[in-house]
Amino acid sequence: MKRIESKHDLAINGAVPAFDQPLHVGRPNIGSREAFMQYAEEIFDRRWLSNNGPVVQEFERRVAEYHGVKHCISMCNGTVALEIAIRALGMEGEVIVPSYTFVATAHALSWQGITPVFADIDPVTHNLDPEAVRRMITPRTTGIIGVHLWGQAAPVEALQQIADEHGLKLMFDAAHAFGCSRNGRMIGNFGACEVLSFHATKFFNTFEGGAILTNDDDLAEKMRLMRNFGFSGLDNVVHMGTNGKMIEVAAAMGLVNLDAIDSVIAANKRNHEAYRAGLAGLHGISLRTFDEAERNNYQYVVMEVGPDCLKTRDRIIEALHAENILARKYFWPGCHNMKPYRELYPLAGLLLPNTQQVADRVMVLPTGTTMSKEMVETVASVIRTIVAG
Ligand SMILES: Cc1ncc(COP(=O)(O)O)c(C=O)c1O
Repeated sequence: MKRIESKHDLAINGAVPAFDQPLHVGRPNIGSREAFMQYAEEIFDRRWLSNNGPVVQEFERRVAEYHGVKHCISMCNGTVALEIAIRALGMEGEVIVPSYTFVATAHALSWQGITPVFADIDPVTHNLDPEAVRRMITPRTTGIIGVHLWGQAAPVEALQQIADEHGLKLMFDAAHAFGCSRNGRMIGNFGACEVLSFHATKFFNTFEGGAILTNDDDLAEKMRLMRNFGFSGLDNVVHMGTNGKMIEVAAAMGLVNLDAIDSVIAANKRNHEAYRAGLAGLHGISLRTFDEAERNNYQYVVMEVGPDCLKTRDRIIEALHAENILARKYFWPGCHNMKPYRELYPLAGLLLPNTQQVADRVMVLPTGTTMSKEMVETVASVIRTIVAG
């Protein structure tokens, strides 16, 4: 790796890039290939590829156990899991969500004719601000979807209180929060249900996949029916449904990745600490920290570029890309600024000042098992040089 000591060493100034291969933010973590191949052989031998096979059942049991939750209902992806959860809860009319989230949170509502109403976030936690949620309640509101952004739990107690006061349904988009806790209680145990994503770019993946966690027996039963066309038994359709099933080979990936999860979390934590040390004291730059009293997965290294930084966020990203460091803006420019929602609410930004500010400042840095401590140190020294140069 090249040494970065002055601005003349930067690729934007004509030097060779710091890395000859691109460093991605969400490069998949992959557990034991041998174990995965063994599962694949068994799946082929059984010729049971989908429809609640034994590997899916084992995966659901292990994920539920990991989170200390009664039910894990696996799905083909997190978006369909959100859609099914929303429908199973009977949400309709308007549902309050953050705008600062992946667009699937809002799409899962719009897709089924429900209006997402965007509430502002707390600029420090990046999660929903309960007071902003209160301000967005109308007679048409039926629910709230909190998002545990970056794996840090949303203010679940305050949101539950608002939901109880107004008779609203409450669920969480926990796509980032596999293996995380809130006040020592594992994610999966809050609201009516919580939705996970196991997309390839998440720190824990099943190629594509998702799941709903809940302690509610009736809700679980309903969602199991809904993910399989409403079939109860061979020929008996008892509920409206869709096809949300996880396949066997995806569950096999989940099981081998679950076996490797401690080492993945350890790599993420080590990288986060190396970034923190490498960027310490850099004017205008701050790195989101984790509450060490909680369980964390450390999957996102979130850097904020403040107004007092000598370089803009976009300029830093451009210079990093020249070095083959593919840092990304995240959740920019906010759902409310994306075409389908901008057309719906052209003035939404006026009520979302914190969302606008955070979306303009945040960038996410590469981490995961494919990043070594030395690589992280190089990325940090590149950032220091860009900012100073
Ligand atoms: C916050 C959030 N919600 C929902 C999703 C959708 O999950 P999936 O890609 O598994 O459909 C994602 C990630 O992709 C996400 O980050």
